[in-house]
Amino acid sequence: MSKDLLDIIKERRSIRKYTDQKPGDEEINKIIEAGLYAPNAGGGQRSMLVVMNDKDLVERVGRLNVGCMNRNNLAGGYVSSEQPSIIDDPSINSGFYGAPTVVAIFAQKGFLYNIPDAFCCAENMVLEACNLGIASCIVARGEETFSTKEGNEYLRKWKVPENMECKCFVLLGYIDGEYPHSRQRREGRVLVVTE
Ligand SMILES: Cc1cc2nc3c(=O)[nH]c(=O)nc-3n(C[C@H](O)[C@H](O)[C@H](O)COP(=O)(O)O)c2cc1C
Repeated sequence: MSKDLLDIIKERRSIRKYTDQKPGDEEINKIIEAGLYAPNAGGGQRSMLVVMNDKDLVERVGRLNVGCMNRNNLAGGYVSSEQPSIIDDPSINSGFYGAPTVVAIFAQKGFLYNIPDAFCCAENMVLEACNLGIASCIVARGEETFSTKEGNEYLRKWKVPENMECKCFVLLGYIDGEYPHSRQRREGRVLVVTE
């Protein structure tokens, strides 16, 4: 029996500890399909996905993703004690946390809604991943990751069109260890108004 969508939404967590096991092609294809069917500004379907399906490649790009992080820009606070992020643990040297498969989401340069387009796509993907029992995490710093010389070389090698820029990543794999509990929601975040 399929799960209720709200249950999946509540169950999904950002996972930062992965085993080496890759999700199968069938699962990856479904997750990609979920991304392609995301709402998108003006119905333009402008975003584009690049699937990195090689452990060494993921590791190299994941290191670029950490290297470009400016710790002075951090808002502060602890992200997760169960699934520590690079903010919580500065000794983590890949922003992709050892995930075996990572999808880079590109959006059209200069388009007003390129960021929401990319993140709507990412959200659809992590929900479908959760539905399939696959662990995931959305990771930022897409532009910065590929703005290095090495990053730029990947874009050229992959023949990513010049008018596209990376906005975020979706990490995919299987959790290593215990699945984190659902977090309580902060109170007072909803107003219902009638006039
Ligand atoms: C816009 C956005 C950017 C994010 N960037 C990162 C990131 O760069 N690295 C990371 O480990 N997690 C990142 N996350 C995941 C958040 O840290 C995570 O969603 C948040 O801590 C709530 O935890 P949960 O997803 O387990 O509910 C990002 C999430 C969003 C929505």
